[in-house]
Amino acid sequence: MCGIVGYSGEQQASEILLDGLERLEYRGYDSAGIAVISPEGELQIRKTKGRLKVLKSLTDNGRVFNGSTGIGHTRWATHGEPSDVNSHPHLGDRNTIAVVHNGIIENYAEIKEYLISKGKVFSSETDTEVIAQLMEYYYEKERDLMASVYKTISNIKGAYALGILCRDYPDVLIAARKDAPLLLGYSDKGHFIASDVTALLKYTREVSYMDDGEVAFIRKDRIEVFDEFGAPVEKEHHYIDWDVSAAEKQGYPHFMFKEIMEQPEAARSTIVPRISSGRIAFENFSLSDEYLKSINKIVIVACGSSYHVGMVGKYTLERLIKMPISVSLASEFRYADPLIDENALIIAISQSGETLDTMEAIREAKRHGSKILSIVNVKGSSIVRESDEVIYTLAGPEIAVATTKAYSTQLIVLNMFGIYLAELLGTIEKEEYIQLIAELRALPDKMSAVLEDTERIKLYASRYFNQESIFYIGRNIDYALGLEGGLKLKEISYIHSESYAAGELKHGTISLIDNGTLVMAVGTYGKLLEKTISNILEVKTRGADVIALTTDSHREAMEKAADMVITVPEAPVILLPSLGIIPLQLFAYYVALMRGCDIDKPRNLAKSVTVE
Ligand code: F6R
Repeated sequence: MCGIVGYSGEQQASEILLDGLERLEYRGYDSAGIAVISPEGELQIRKTKGRLKVLKSLTDNGRVFNGSTGIGHTRWATHGEPSDVNSHPHLGDRNTIAVVHNGIIENYAEIKEYLISKGKVFSSETDTEVIAQLMEYYYEKERDLMASVYKTISNIKGAYALGILCRDYPDVLIAARKDAPLLLGYSDKGHFIASDVTALLKYTREVSYMDDGEVAFIRKDRIEVFDEFGAPVEKEHHYIDWDVSAAEKQGYPHFMFKEIMEQPEAARSTIVPRISSGRIAFENFSLSDEYLKSINKIVIVACGSSYHVGMVGKYTLERLIKMPISVSLASEFRYADPLIDENALIIAISQSGETLDTMEAIREAKRHGSKILSIVNVKGSSIVRESDEVIYTLAGPEIAVATTKAYSTQLIVLNMFGIYLAELLGTIEKEEYIQLIAELRALPDKMSAVLEDTERIKLYASRYFNQESIFYIGRNIDYALGLEGGLKLKEISYIHSESYAAGELKHGTISLIDNGTLVMAVGTYGKLLEKTISNILEVKTRGADVIALTTDSHREAMEKAADMVITVPEAPVILLPSLGIIPLQLFAYYVALMRGCDIDKPRNLAKSVTVE
């Protein structure tokens, strides 16, 4: 969603801010702006609705501003439509304080009313403007910068990551955080703040993560951090090992295509370090064997594609550990008064580690005494810090809004945890365990083999990219795969899709099948193949065109029923979704490409969803 970058150092700030914002574009935004303090203490601001290139041309690529301390922002509108005036940074009405903000201020209306009664004049509809106005109000009364920051944050309710400038302090950048990500970056040439590490990779790998309630004063030569009571805090420094090139297109037409192609490598990076001497082991894993043996329920909570990973996991983990697994949309779980206690393990799945709904679901589970194991891609993210244990997906930065390699690595981690737990609980035979380890090792090469057959998928996409609606059907793991396939298609191509459990179709949805309707039938699970074929015949009888996805050994059977067939190599059932998802991702990608869609930045979507 919104992005923040800030800098105080020896270089011109505006170019660094614009470059950092460019690297945050992938998160989704509708307007952008920067503020830089001039050496004479003037707050210079440019902000505009639309893409960053508009801001760049308005500022001659940042050259119109002289100054080495500044803040930048990309906004994804919540309070107030996307417009120049609602864009960040926001100023107090005396032009003393400038603020950029990610998050939502819940009591902004009440504060605004108070400030208006004190004579403050507002210019935007945003919740953020009240922060700038309130801080300026305190600062003008007391002339104490630190005190006015603390007074402001103690009066606002909600979530915030803030970057603040005061024109009387031309070399100081202030940051504050509560329930929204913000990190500090360290380098010889100056210091940084950012809402997402990708904004800083070009300048530094040394970062620390701000915690809730903390305030930081950032200058060219030092960063001072204080806790919620104003006491100094020593921050732990972390080294980010992501490669800058991993966040660049490197000749690929889209990040999404690049990330689809990177899946074998991402899978290898995620699998290999977790297998040692033929057994699965997670580094520094703190959930004890005794604790894991005491759990009687697992609940997976997540949103969107991460939820779809959970849907696959329900089938695969129940099979492995013979324990009831429930999967809940995080946004529903948190208000459902869940029936969990200290014997329930909650698995939270999140690529970004910042999804607010998932975070709130974790907090709800903790109130019930349950432990949280999270599966996350971004180190140091908020969900990691609120979990009892984390297993990272080692997918590297994922830039395209539509997830691909993060989904695949989440699936792998969840299955690896299932196999690990099955061995511990004694619910898996030794031979099957050994076979699964060997198959996990072989998985990246099988994924590469699937990626070799892109031409066939492109051909099918060219036949159907003009469809109004596409149906995905499947049973068991294939139903879960269909859910993700359908979501991929919807989000990047804007074609309506329905994903149905194949046996459920005849209970209503089959009325939508007509001559020429495309049905994508997912049938990788050999045991249920015949059942899925019956469902294919049902839709074919009603005029549908069917593309079937199955494994190599079932090609012939599928060819008798479907119009077109795509196959993936054989694998144990729990690993099949890691192969089956690839053609579905590619199909959505090519359809969107042929429709001329903005694949990496689909309309209305954001990469990390930090609002409820
Ligand atoms: C779809 C997609 C979203 C995310 C969802 C959860 O391609 O990316 O559905 O999966 O917003 O995000 P995370 O995994 O960051 O919690």
